[in-house]
Amino acid sequence: MRISIIGTGYVGTVTGACFAHLGNEVICVDVDPKRVESINRGVPPIYEEGLDELLKAHAGKNLSATLDYDYAVSNSDVSFICVPTPTDESGKIDLRFVREASRSIGERLKAKDSYHVVVVKSTVVPQTTQEVVTPILEETSGKKAGLDFGVGMNPEFLREGKAVHDFMHPDRIVIGGDDPKALGIIKGLYAGYTCPILEVDTKTAEMIKYVSNAFLATKISFSNEVGNICKRLGIDTYKVMEGVGLDARISPYFLNSGLGFGGSCFPKDVKALIGKASEIDYEPILLKTVLKVNDNQPHMLMSLLKKHVPDLKDKRIAVLGLAFKNDTDDIRESRAIHVIGSLLAEGASVVAYDPMATERMKRVYPNIEYAKSADEALEGADACVIATEWAEFKKLDSFKSMRKPVVIDGRRMVDPRGKGIIYEGLCW
Ligand code: UDX
Repeated sequence: MRISIIGTGYVGTVTGACFAHLGNEVICVDVDPKRVESINRGVPPIYEEGLDELLKAHAGKNLSATLDYDYAVSNSDVSFICVPTPTDESGKIDLRFVREASRSIGERLKAKDSYHVVVVKSTVVPQTTQEVVTPILEETSGKKAGLDFGVGMNPEFLREGKAVHDFMHPDRIVIGGDDPKALGIIKGLYAGYTCPILEVDTKTAEMIKYVSNAFLATKISFSNEVGNICKRLGIDTYKVMEGVGLDARISPYFLNSGLGFGGSCFPKDVKALIGKASEIDYEPILLKTVLKVNDNQPHMLMSLLKKHVPDLKDKRIAVLGLAFKNDTDDIRESRAIHVIGSLLAEGASVVAYDPMATERMKRVYPNIEYAKSADEALEGADACVIATEWAEFKKLDSFKSMRKPVVIDGRRMVDPRGKGIIYEGLCW
């Protein structure tokens, strides 16, 4: 198949590279010349495990990038819309980029003789494909959806850092289409996959994506609520959730309590689903509470810290972990941002360390101190806060160099036994 990919963010680049790896002819389109040039040189514009090898193998062969929509759409049979869908200030989804991409594709469809399928991969709230994308495509092309061209919705379930693996080995593939011809063509792209393939209409596909993320976020907030209760009862919540997760109906994943969830998807998608529900006159009490519990975890951590260091003014506090999760340099919605904000508001002096995310955090907090290692951050600190689940924190052994060895663990990284530290687990 000849595929064009609109937008070369992490979803677009990974999708393009993986489809090329599956033997398709892929053309990526972006408005950013730097990204286009980078892909054509076989260098990933973002870091993703395994992406480097894929781009090296396929760039200049069956994978290319361009600024030119005309070229991309006229030389492909399927276009995937992979542009960002941020939330606006009120928490509602901002469809600006989806609209622009739809218009740009539609204008090129006008001159095309052959059947073309437009597939939305961006995360969009239910009814967007049907009520926003299709009308724009019809209006700009002067053609009829379901007849002259097809429209589909094919959500991604890619974890940052593991996106290539997740694309190649998905638990399931969801294909939404409002006409059988489009559905058939999209399904053909996944011909070699052995996982379940679910065929639904476009609004169901859109909803599946939101509900998957909202459910995972709910599991985390639920675990945090249980953890907050366990902490007060002197029960180890990790043992509790181990016992709970052994029930096959529940599964052992996403039951780790701590500082809560961040990242580019969970907070944004839960907010957008709440926004959509409010628009149709339904108050999603549970989803709102999921966010409330999540927002509260950094405050819980601050209370525990203040139990041991009541006056934080001018105290040196080491914050270990800045990325929103381990193995990424992404700090979007990272819980560490909130923790550092609260520490600064109390007058503390913050020394931060992260194996990958320091440069990004410097843009948010340019005036705090950044250490080159966890050991360096701990030296002379009055307390330490662990905000990200980096594996290296499990091996920490330099607490003796702290002025006062108070460790507030937001991710269950440190085993306090025999370390001579004053240890507080956030939920255990
Ligand atoms: C998520 C979804 O997993 C993916 O399917 C979707 O397409 C995009 O959003 P990602 O944002 O990369 O992927 O991160 P993920 O690994 O799911 O973790 C999200 C957040 O939840 C992190 O901040 C992590 O620290 C937190 N988390 C995860 C917990 O607090 N507890 C857990 O048990 C699991």
